[in-house]
Amino acid sequence: MQRNEPSNGMNGKSHPERSPVIRVERFSKNYYLGRTVVPALRGVNLDVQQGEFVALMGPSGSGKSTFMNLLGCLDRPTSGSYLLDGVPVSKMNSNQLADIRNQKIGFVFQSFNLLSWMTALDNVELPLVYSGVARAERRRRAAHALSMVGLKSRASHRPVELSGGQQQRVAIARALVTTPSLFLADEPTGNLDSQTSEQIITILQELNARGLTVVLVTHEPDIARHAHRQVRFRDGRIVEDIGAIPHEIVMTDVPRSRPAEKQVS
Ligand SMILES: Nc1ncnc2c1ncn2[C@@H]1O[C@H](COP(=O)(O)OP(=O)(O)O)[C@@H](O)[C@H]1O
Ligand SMILES: [Mg+2]
Repeated sequence: MQRNEPSNGMNGKSHPERSPVIRVERFSKNYYLGRTVVPALRGVNLDVQQGEFVALMGPSGSGKSTFMNLLGCLDRPTSGSYLLDGVPVSKMNSNQLADIRNQKIGFVFQSFNLLSWMTALDNVELPLVYSGVARAERRRRAAHALSMVGLKSRASHRPVELSGGQQQRVAIARALVTTPSLFLADEPTGNLDSQTSEQIITILQELNARGLTVVLVTHEPDIARHAHRQVRFRDGRIVEDIGAIPHEIVMTDVPRSRPAEKQVS
């Protein structure tokens, strides 16, 4: 896979400071159900640097999916600002958001959302169809993405012919095929047994080791411990953030991915 180079600011101007992949300030999100207001997020701030692997945790209903949908440009905040890879996306219209999603974001969910009548390869190619890539190039890139998740030999299988774990790997390949700056996964192992879950997390770790920035929602501490950083939500707020890269280090030298913590035996 191609490395995801961080943008060096807009208009080709290079900036001495790198901008984080994610800079969220004072995000709030209300849902309106009739006359009832549901405040799903209440003033969330978060920076995520290039190459980080962040696990979002917290009880059901604490706002994790709402937050991920905002990060993934699937929805807009009620208030607050968002710089994605240095680009201010909070004010964009739906067409612009669709373009940004296609260029910069790979998203996987608990449900695999594959098109049942298409082969694995065709499913993975789909985002490239939307971005107007020529057919031969699409097939080459889709085949490469499938090989990155260890499914080259299943390219011509349809989803029903694949296990749950394999289907999620196809969904990951589909999310990677556009070489996004940011990979978002909302409970990607929620429908999988623990052994298959470990395989999926190992794939995400490998992608992160190649420089991909990963934000993952999970309920399971076993899964979260694979991340460098754990951010905990409660009642629409971040109540804990463990393992963030200190700001001074980011400003001087950003590692693409941090080496795994040494295990103390
Ligand atoms: N589309 C929606 N309409 C109304 N309320 C919603 C909607 N989506 C989520 N909520 C509410 O917002 C809160 C946060 O939900 P969510 O972000 O899904 O939490 P989590 O992913 O942490 O379980 C919950 O109270 C939930 O009921
Ligand atoms: Mg959720």
